Amino acid sequence: MNVQWWQKEVIYQIYPRSFKDTNNDGVGDINGIIEKLPYLNSLGITMIWICPIFKSPMVDNGYDISDYKDINSEFGSLNDLETLLNKAKQYDIKIMLDLVVNHTSDEHEWFEAALNDPASPYRDYYIFKEGVNGAPPNNWRSIFGGSVWEKVVGEDMYYMHVFDKKQPDLNFENPKLREEIYHMINWWLRKGLAGFRIDSITFLKKDQDFESLTADGNDGLVTCKHKTRNRPGIELFLKELKQQTFEKFDCITVGEAPGVNYDELTDFIGEDGYFSMIFDFKYTDIDVESGSDWFKRTNWTTEEYKKLLFESQEAIQKVGWGANFIENHDQPRALSKLVKDPSYQNFVGGSAIAMLYFFLRGTPFIYQGQELGMTNFERQSIDQFNDISSIDNFHRSIEEGFTEEQAMEFVNLRSRDNTRTPLPWNDQKFGGFSKTKPWIDLIENYKTINVQIEENTSSSLLNFYRELIQLRNHSKYSQTLIYGNFTAHRETNENIISYFRNDQTTKLQIIVNLSNKHNDIDIKNTNYELILDNYGAVEKTENKIKLRPYEALIIEIKI
Ligand code: NOJ
Ligand code: CA
Repeated sequence: MNVQWWQKEVIYQIYPRSFKDTNNDGVGDINGIIEKLPYLNSLGITMIWICPIFKSPMVDNGYDISDYKDINSEFGSLNDLETLLNKAKQYDIKIMLDLVVNHTSDEHEWFEAALNDPASPYRDYYIFKEGVNGAPPNNWRSIFGGSVWEKVVGEDMYYMHVFDKKQPDLNFENPKLREEIYHMINWWLRKGLAGFRIDSITFLKKDQDFESLTADGNDGLVTCKHKTRNRPGIELFLKELKQQTFEKFDCITVGEAPGVNYDELTDFIGEDGYFSMIFDFKYTDIDVESGSDWFKRTNWTTEEYKKLLFESQEAIQKVGWGANFIENHDQPRALSKLVKDPSYQNFVGGSAIAMLYFFLRGTPFIYQGQELGMTNFERQSIDQFNDISSIDNFHRSIEEGFTEEQAMEFVNLRSRDNTRTPLPWNDQKFGGFSKTKPWIDLIENYKTINVQIEENTSSSLLNFYRELIQLRNHSKYSQTLIYGNFTAHRETNENIISYFRNDQTTKLQIIVNLSNKHNDIDIKNTNYELILDNYGAVEKTENKIKLRPYEALIIEIKI
């Protein structure tokens, strides 16, 4: 593929509520991001993606927008954002915002107008349908639980919401609505954003038959995904969206596009695709059968993970470019999920999974706190959760016949609140995040896992991430690590994940022992040089490397 500027980026994801609070109201803010630009710069990242900061009642922490062109006051103002854009530029750090156009908040003025007056033109900005015999129009279940339909008070009408009832879906069938959205996107892009991460974008098209399907749960409902996610006809919306907005700017677009099969990747990320790259959840969701039903857990193995990872890389390489991540604000902490043995949920495990994904072909994303080795936060009772999805999954698990104890376990393993705890900057009260009690509790281990301690420990995970970024972007291997081919290495022990990055001049091999056992790997060409090893040095015999638990390394094979 042709070289694109966004291929060399290293993107850091900020969950603004939990990054840094500067006015001590317990909630992170834009000024907090400004204050920490030197930290981000010293890490070596080149771009930040900030989760939604627009005006919002915060039912889904900003993914419910009530005004697209204003900033939620708890985060600051448009002026603060302009300041951030300018200051970030001084560090050569670009900024991506989160674009949420599948739905708005029910407090958006369009929805308020739609709800108040059946004759309002804004009704057709959303999806309103008549009930059937006093019941909702069909049996689709929303992603956050319950019916996708919410009754309009005083009418036999319902409005549709794929997510929470306070997140009504926009009606993309309406050209007028589409035009308003394009206008808003272009308004933002003209402000000098690098681009957008684009929320839930595969949900734009709903099957217009609105037909019920066979129930798949004890609630008598069926996941709406079959009828609302990546459905035929979406190509028209996505093509037009690109033509009317992104294409006019040299911007980066990262689609959150669950439900896309590998044989459709050309449409999404091919040369003429809708987006620069999309997130692939197929291996990220290895621990559950479906990202929204947390009680359907799998008993996954490293071998299965490896297979999915390789399939993903190979499929993407054929047509375009990947967006590589192991953690985000909807996922558990990767260290708790991918490193099964708790005694390695530390520097060793953290550096192993870092090495594993960071050198894959694509643009790497780092989620705040991942670079410190933050872990899941185990909560004792459902009242301690803020995340609407956690609360829904708790009740659904019980409805499906699990005990409260089991339900708590599922939620603790998967809760989105695991990655939403405040970032600990030091071991002081509230971790230096704020001087007041934060909106959500800090994880107890912040006294030992925090930025300050890791800054001062040369062998910390934070410094390991710095090394990875330097290697990828500023070393003699950069060209190969960024643009080189990906080649899977399948002839290894089941617990070892190994792949090559190579071009005409250089061949690099990444090797990760994703297990707590010792394992050997054959290195066919004994003429190699160690570049980086999370144990410091390799233990080798003739043509074998003896890998210790969760050992990870990168070597150059001399060709
Ligand atoms: C995906 C976002 O990442 C998630 O946090 C949000 O709840 C849903 N989309 C709905 O916007
Ligand atoms: Ca604040």
